[in-house]
Amino acid sequence: MSAVELSGSEDLATGHASSDFSHAVPVEGFDPTLADGSFTLLDREGGLHRLPGLAGYRMMEIIRDFGFDIPAICGGAAACGTCHVYVEPGDMARLAEPSEEESYQLDHLLTYQPQSRLSCQIIWDRAVHDGMHVALAPKE
Ligand code: FES
Repeated sequence: MSAVELSGSEDLATGHASSDFSHAVPVEGFDPTLADGSFTLLDREGGLHRLPGLAGYRMMEIIRDFGFDIPAICGGAAACGTCHVYVEPGDMARLAEPSEEESYQLDHLLTYQPQSRLSCQIIWDRAVHDGMHVALAPKE
């Protein structure tokens, strides 16, 4: 079974209980000595990647700066919704409730699901976010 066929991939996109993310491949440039923890990203083609956590950076910035297709048009102001990710259901409790601005954007996404969040509103904190699993939502 290749990484793109992991059942966990489908689960993450549909919100059902997930399974095995251990096959995530570290992104090019991932330096474990510099990383502040890590998280797993499922891309839109089914590829499963491990990205480094970087203290104080927005998850959106980490995803974008490692070359994934995440427009993030507003630059992290919770005003565009183009950094939309689905969070593994088991990881939802790690995150604070969305702000009013984030909730407004989420409410207007055609691809909204209960585990939807804006990755620009997740400011990396290893103690909270290390080991999370997220998936890029479809583009709208
Ligand atoms: S980058 Fe625009 S809402 Fe997150």
